[in-house]
Amino acid sequence: MRLFLDTADIDDIRRGMKLGVITGVTTNPSLLSKAKHVDYKSAIIEICSIVGGPVSAEALSQEAGAMVEEARDLSSWSPHVVVKIPCTAQGMEAISILSKEGIATNLTLCFSLNQAILGAQAGATYISPFVGRLDDIGHDGMELVSDIVDMLDYYDLSTRVIAASIRHPMHCVAAVKAGAHIATVPYGVLMQMVEHPLTTQGIARFLEDWQRLAKD
Ligand code: G3P
Repeated sequence: MRLFLDTADIDDIRRGMKLGVITGVTTNPSLLSKAKHVDYKSAIIEICSIVGGPVSAEALSQEAGAMVEEARDLSSWSPHVVVKIPCTAQGMEAISILSKEGIATNLTLCFSLNQAILGAQAGATYISPFVGRLDDIGHDGMELVSDIVDMLDYYDLSTRVIAASIRHPMHCVAAVKAGAHIATVPYGVLMQMVEHPLTTQGIARFLEDWQRLAKD
């Protein structure tokens, strides 16, 4: 499973990239607003130059023709831009046009297998089921990830699944088990994935023992 960072915070992206385990970034209007980016274009271009891999940037238009125009503009900013398009009828229409033009897309706000089937048939490069938001309303978000992965495998479709709306490290474990191709994680969750109390304790004990030897 590949890992993307789910943030628009430049410092977090720089810190995360240093680990050498991040291959992409996903943003959305809420994350850009949280990171206080007033200039959308320069923020996305900067993120693309740091990451050098797929960077999802959301189209804000609601109508298919306008989405397509916006997507063409977004994708001209950097070859790394992947255009996020929401799961609506207009969105499906836009994705089917964009896929024929070779513009990479990420079907976002996906909450059902039906939406995923449509997105894959339209030619979406990625599909992002929002796991945490489904869990929030009492559904099993990771079951949807697993169902979408199975469906893509069964029909031999090339669309990749990004487990999104990841809230904690156990979501990452479950995403691996569900066969997600990618999980997009907040920086805090990435750090939680690294940490284990037994590793911390183990390092402390090794150092203590080593220092004891030095004193003997
Ligand atoms: O990847 C989608 C993500 O940004 C949404 O996360 O926590 O707002 O549901 P959340």
